Amino acid sequence: MTVKLFAFAASLRQASWNRKLLNVAAEVARAAGAAVDVAEFREFDMPLYDADLEASQGIPAGAQLLIRRIRAADGLLLASPEYNNSMPGTLKNAIDWVSREKPAALRGKSAMLLSTSSGLVGGNRGLWALRIPLAMLGVHVQPDMFSLAQSDKAFDATGQLADPVVRERLGKMVQGYVRVATALAGS
Ligand code: FNR
Repeated sequence: MTVKLFAFAASLRQASWNRKLLNVAAEVARAAGAAVDVAEFREFDMPLYDADLEASQGIPAGAQLLIRRIRAADGLLLASPEYNNSMPGTLKNAIDWVSREKPAALRGKSAMLLSTSSGLVGGNRGLWALRIPLAMLGVHVQPDMFSLAQSDKAFDATGQLADPVVRERLGKMVQGYVRVATALAGS
């Protein structure tokens, strides 16, 4: 079977390093046999979570679109910047809206998390924070997470990872995730 992955980078920035990393990971996943639906986070524009707004108007259109794209997939490839040692508030807000739809769209999905930042930790602390709501919502979060340090030096002019050792590490990790996501999707 072909595993279906839904992928986006949780940055709205035009020159996002996380989007570059996500695109590299998506290509590796496709080469490993996955069908990858790559989205722009901007497609899922939504207000700040407001229980009164939910009560009067329901789940906003941007969040409903995100829910539909998640439902259509078996797993997620998610690249997220690290803000203040955590995930961006925009991403947590989206997760909170998505969690309001029943049955839960994320339950039973798998996910591989990636991050990059110009710092030496590559945004890894943000991914540890991101694991918490995803696990709470029933996502099988892949234990291996890929964090790329020094994003400003890590890519070549074509958008590929400049260091072959790093490229191979990402390749192995994404291939490993595609195997797990395929097994979970068939279970
Ligand atoms: C950051 N940045 C950052 N980087 C990091 O390594 N650790 C951190 O805690 C933070 N905190 C942080 C807070 C806020 C509010 C901003 C705006 C930025 C830097 C950030 O990770 C970096 O700019 C990334 O390149 C952003 O990702 P994109 O947009 O390039 O994908």
